[in-house]
Order: sequence, then C-alpha cells, then structure tokens
Amino acid sequence: MEKIRIDEKKCTLCGLCIPECLRGILQEGKEAVHVTNPKYCILCGHCKAVCPVDAPELPRLDASEFEPVPERENYPKADELLSFFRARRSIRQFEKRSVEREKLEKIIQAGRFAPTGGNLQGLHYTVVHTPDKLSEVRDMNLDLLYRKAEDIERAFEQNSQTGEPVPQAYQERKLYASLWKAMKGLMGKGIDKLFYHAPALVALHVDPAKSTSAMVDAGLAAMQMALMAETLELGTCFCGFFVFAVNESKEFKKILDIPEKHIVPVSFVVGYPDVKYQRLVSRNPARVNWF
Ligand SMILES: Cc1cc2nc3c(=O)[nH]c(=O)nc-3n(C[C@H](O)[C@H](O)[C@H](O)COP(=O)(O)O)c2cc1C
Repeated sequence: MEKIRIDEKKCTLCGLCIPECLRGILQEGKEAVHVTNPKYCILCGHCKAVCPVDAPELPRLDASEFEPVPERENYPKADELLSFFRARRSIRQFEKRSVEREKLEKIIQAGRFAPTGGNLQGLHYTVVHTPDKLSEVRDMNLDLLYRKAEDIERAFEQNSQTGEPVPQAYQERKLYASLWKAMKGLMGKGIDKLFYHAPALVALHVDPAKSTSAMVDAGLAAMQMALMAETLELGTCFCGFFVFAVNESKEFKKILDIPEKHIVPVSFVVGYPDVKYQRLVSRNPARVNWF
C-alpha cells in the first residue's frame, strides 16, 4: 500500500507541510505539493497534522485518529503537572481487586502514542492479568532469581578458594543474591515481594533490529503508561527483577510468547493502591551545567 499521497483537489500550495517533512520528500509542484520519494516517508503524520485543508493522505494510518489538537489553554498548568509527576510513587501494597480491561487498554494507548526513534514504533506489549498466568510467571521468575543467586554465591565461593575471578555481572548483583533467595522463601509463606500481589504485569518488548533506540523508546512509553495509570486511580511499580530474569531465559520468554530475539527493557505491575501517602518526597538536587 502506498505510504503517502497528496489530494491535489484539496491542496492550496500553502507550503506549510514542506518544512515539516523530516525526510524532505515534499516539494512545491505546479498545482499541488509533490511527493518526490514516497517510500522514504516515516508516517510521522506531521504533514497531515499541519495542513489546514487535510490534503495529505496516509492510507496506512487510521484517518480517524487525526483529531483536532486540544486548545493550549486546556493543557495542565506547569505547577500542577509537576505536582502530578511528584505524586507518583512506586506502589508496593495493592488491593485484592483486579484491574478492568478498559483501564489496561487505556494504559496501552498511552504507550502507543509515545515518541519512538525514527517513528519506528517497534514496541510490543505483553499483559499478564489472569491470576493463574500471573502465578505461573511469578513462580518462574522467583525460581530463575533463586538459581541466579546460587550461581552468584558459587562464583564468590570459588573465588575465595581458587582466586578465580568473579564475572563483573555477578559482582554487580552480589547484594541481590540473598534478597532473591529470601523472596522465594517469603513467597512460600504467601508474601509476594516480586509483584507485591498486584493483579497485573505489563512488559514492553522490542526486536532490537527493528528499533534504533529500543531502550529509550521503551522507557518513554513506560513512563507515559505509568502516569496514565495514576489518572485511572491505579498505581504501578517498575519491576527490574522481572526484566532481569526474562532477558536471561529463553524458557521464560517462551511462556510469555515473547520472541527469543526480543529484548524486554521495562516492565511494571499495576493495580489499585492500598496505601495513601501524606506528602511528596525529596530528591537530590539536579546536577546541571549551564552554558
Ligand atoms: C528501571 C526500574 C526498575 C525498578 N525495579 C524495581 C523492582 O524490581 N522492585 C521494586 O520494588 N522497585 C523497583 N523500582 C522502583 C524504584 O525502587 C523506585 O522508583 C525508587 O525507589 C523511587 O521511588 P518512587 O518510584 O516511589 O518515586 C524500579 C524502578 C525503575 C525505574
């Protein structure tokens, strides 16, 4: 399917789209803007978004999503937005109720509209929200972490006996070994220190060959998703231990239908918070160089 064409009957040659095109494939023609090299279009939608008469046609995109831009006066005010950002906390106590499917879909929409390098939009989303599957994922995750903890401890033991160097990745994770073992023990007593009994887990994954900025794309989308969750009265906690385990294990990816070649840069659990904070928190001052 063609990527881009200009409806010549609509185009008034106002030229607004020409400087907007990142790829420089729009030129002034005789009666309408001319697309010089349609295959280079990255489908960013800027030409259509800026056109007063909606002349650009992008048949691969959903035209109904090109809705009117909200008025700037309706944007959140800067101080309100900063308070909203600051009010987000990592939630580690959740109510026992599940999250409505519509809310999870809204959170995914928030990810979908995040910017991606080259507009490549390579992200995939995996949502685990049925109790049985979540249990299976949690158990596998805890088992993998437990085994990794044993590997780390073994490497340090060997090092003390033979002087054999401990791999860098293990040195960095030495502190986690005892924590990971304890987490599995606590789960045996019904205490979930991995997903905190949250009713859903969301993982973002991407084929690194199909993205020029996989980690950044995933981070940007994930933050938009976490903030969207806040507006839906939900809370999230990013889940680095899941990310670590799933990227290490083919079997783990397999039970989640995540292709082996995909990387999982970020994941979070989501649910209704069972905690109410009384105040915002402090952070280190920003380290800024002004020139
Ligand atoms: C990439 C990333 C991974 C994280 N992984 C975990 C995790 O596995 N378990 C956990 O309890 N918190 C995790 N967190 C949450 C951080 O501990 C938390 O963001 C930090 O302590 C600041 O607290 P706040 O989110 O409430 O502002 C993670 C955060 C990020 C950004």
